[in-house]
Amino acid sequence: MNGFTFYSPTKVVFGPGSCDQAGALLKEHGASRVLVLYGGGSVVRNGVLDRVTASLEKSGLSWQCVGGIQPNPRLALAQEIADNARDKGFDFLLAVGGGSVLDTMKGVSMSLACGGDIWDFFDGSRKVTAAIPMASIITLAAAGSETSDSAVLTNEALGWKKGCGTPYNRPVFAIMDPELTYTLPAHQTACGVADIMMHTLERYFSTNKTDYLTDAIAEALLRDVMEAGLLALAEPENYVARSEIMWCGSLSHNDLTGLGHPKDFSVHQLGHELSAMFDIPHGESLTIMWATWARYVCPTDPGRFAQLGRKVLNITESDDTLAAQMTINGFEAYFQRIGMAVCFSDLIGVQSDEVVADLAERCSWKGKRTVGVFRPIVREDMLALYQAANR
Ligand code: NZQ
Ligand code: ZN
Repeated sequence: MNGFTFYSPTKVVFGPGSCDQAGALLKEHGASRVLVLYGGGSVVRNGVLDRVTASLEKSGLSWQCVGGIQPNPRLALAQEIADNARDKGFDFLLAVGGGSVLDTMKGVSMSLACGGDIWDFFDGSRKVTAAIPMASIITLAAAGSETSDSAVLTNEALGWKKGCGTPYNRPVFAIMDPELTYTLPAHQTACGVADIMMHTLERYFSTNKTDYLTDAIAEALLRDVMEAGLLALAEPENYVARSEIMWCGSLSHNDLTGLGHPKDFSVHQLGHELSAMFDIPHGESLTIMWATWARYVCPTDPGRFAQLGRKVLNITESDDTLAAQMTINGFEAYFQRIGMAVCFSDLIGVQSDEVVADLAERCSWKGKRTVGVFRPIVREDMLALYQAANR
C-alpha cells in the first residue's frame, strides 16, 4: 500500500426525516443567511424544498432560493448565480438536489470566496484558496459530490466539460435521506447506480495488487450497489435498497475504495467528452465506454479482471483470460439489464469519422494529455476506443 492522506471531513447525517434537520444543522454550523440552490424543479414538485425552507424558518435563518440548474451543469449559470449573490451577505450555501446542483454550488463558492471567474479555477490558471461553507441535501445517489473534493462544470462556449479538485470543495455536512430518492425516474436511478459502480471500478484498476483491504471494500461495495440497484428498480420505495445505494454513492467517491494506489479514471475522461458534445447523462456516458475500454486494456493484466469477476460476479472459471472475458461481458450485461447504453447506437447514434476524431482530439487535449494508470491512454488509444464504441 502506497502512502496516502485520507481526508473526508464532511459530517454525514443519514436517515429518514434527516432532511427536516437542515435548519438546526445550519444554525449549529454558524449559518445566518443561506443561499439555497436547486435544479429543474423536482424538489418543488415532490415537496422537498418546502420541507427544507420550513426547517430553515423554524431555526430563524434567512435564505434565498435559486433554481434552474440543469444536468451537465453550465458554467454560465454558476457564474450568474455567484455574481447575483455577491455582497448579499450569504454565509452558507445549501444544495438541494443531485450532483449538478452540488457542483454548481461548489463553483459559486469558489467565485464568492476567491473572487473572479469560476473557469479560472477549472482551467488551472488560478488556485482555490478559500470557500464559503457548503452543505447539501442529496435527492439522487450518484455523483458522490456530497463528500467529494471535486466539481464538474460544462463550459458551453468552449464545448468543454471539466473537473476541478480541491480540498475547499468538501462540504461541511451532508444530509442523506434515502426516502428523498423515491421519486426518481427509473432511468436516473440506473444512471446513479452506474456512476457509483464506475467510481469504484476506476479506482480498482490501478497499478498495485496488494491493497487487500481496499480491494475488499471495493468488491463489497460493487456487489451491494448492483444488488440494491436491481431491487430499487423493481421497488422504487424500498428503503433498504435506497439507503444502500445512497451510502455506496458517498463511499465510492470519498476515496475509501481507492486508498493506497493511484486512480485510473480513463472512462470518466472519455465519457466527459461525450456529455460535453451530446449532453447525455453522466452515468450513460460511462457505460457507453466501459466495456470497450475494458476489452482494450484487459491484456495488460487479465488477472485483475478475473479477480473482479470472481469476487463480484461469482465467476468460477480458473483460467484468467477466460474469466476476464466473462467479467467484462457480465458487467456489460448488467448495464444493459438496468437500461444503460453500452455503445453509441444505443443513445447518440453511430457518428461520422470526423466526430469520432474530434472526440479523441478533445479528450487528449490535442495530443498533449495522457489519462489512466492501469494502462495509460494517449490520443491514438482514445481514437481507437471511440471508434470501437461507435457501433
Ligand atoms: O433538475 P431536477 O428537476 O431536480 O431533476 C434532476 C435531473 O433531471 C433529477 N432528480 C434529482 N433528484 C430527483 C430527481 N428527479 C426526481 N426525484 C428526485 N429525487 O435527476 C436528474 C439528474 O440530476 P443530476 O444532478 O444531473 O444527476 P447526478 O447526481 O447524477 O449528477 C451528475 C453530474 O455530476 C457530475 C457529472 O459529471 C454530472 O455533471 N459528477 C460530479 C462528481 C463530483 N462532483 O465529485 C463526480 C462524478 O464522477 C460526476 O462527474
Ligand atoms: Zn462519475
